Amino acid sequence: MGKCYPTVSEEYKKAIEKAKKKLRGLIAEKNCAPIMLRIAWHSAGTFDVKTKTGGPFGTMKKPEELAHGANNGLDIAVRLLEPIKEQFPIISYADFYQLAGVVAVEVTGGPEVPFHPGREDKPNPPPEGRLPDATKGCDHLRQVFCSQMGLSDKDIVALSGGHTLGRCHKERSGFEGPWTSNPLIFDNSYFTILLSGEKEGLLQLPSDKALLSDPAFRPLVEKYAAVSNCSAYLHFKFPTI
Ligand code: HEM
Repeated sequence: MGKCYPTVSEEYKKAIEKAKKKLRGLIAEKNCAPIMLRIAWHSAGTFDVKTKTGGPFGTMKKPEELAHGANNGLDIAVRLLEPIKEQFPIISYADFYQLAGVVAVEVTGGPEVPFHPGREDKPNPPPEGRLPDATKGCDHLRQVFCSQMGLSDKDIVALSGGHTLGRCHKERSGFEGPWTSNPLIFDNSYFTILLSGEKEGLLQLPSDKALLSDPAFRPLVEKYAAVSNCSAYLHFKFPTI
């Protein structure tokens, strides 16, 4: 069954195109693609498929949600995005934060992620505790991604490849360091490095390493490590609405 996306006006579509251009400029100038991808993901990753609550609905700018432990540092992304968002009052925050993630992947050389506008802003942030915990393993990843978000094993592995961008900051998460030696380039090096073992100066979270020990996850890591055209991201799902 095909997906059904909301329809938006021509004016809205034009605003999205203009905002996209400005986001490209901001992300290239400030080298802030990683945190833009992270804000898109942390907005979306709170979705609960059973109650249809949480998800990418523009609540991340609220102090309550920014105060969730998992979101440490995302106030920086909100602040960087605000001057562009102000120029496009027609665009919902919900769409805007997802668009920032899509542009971040594009600007760093990743695949073009199809963007479907039409999310509406919701008033209430999700409860704390829905995003994955980096100190935990496969059961926890399946609980969050599959049971809560309604995604698959394949999605878990493909999405974990988002760690091809950026790094951990001690003061935000307690972890320190990048996953790859080129954290501003979107490629499959997250998977190749994960398979080749720990390296000095690079980091693997317990939740990254867990992908190697699971009989369903590991073959997918191997598959994505073997192809250089970011095919993991052909499976990439930015939840829509
Ligand atoms: C699989 C479960 C995941 C866990 C446990 C996890 C955990 C973390 C942690 C602890 C950090 C470090 C934050 C900091 O100190 O600044 C981080 C950063 C990041 N995560 Fe994840 N993450 C997961 C999945 C994802 C997904 C699905 C994406 C996107 C598709 C993603 C994208 C990023 C990016 C881009 C950064 C770097 C941010 C920066 O450099 O400022 N992560 N993640």
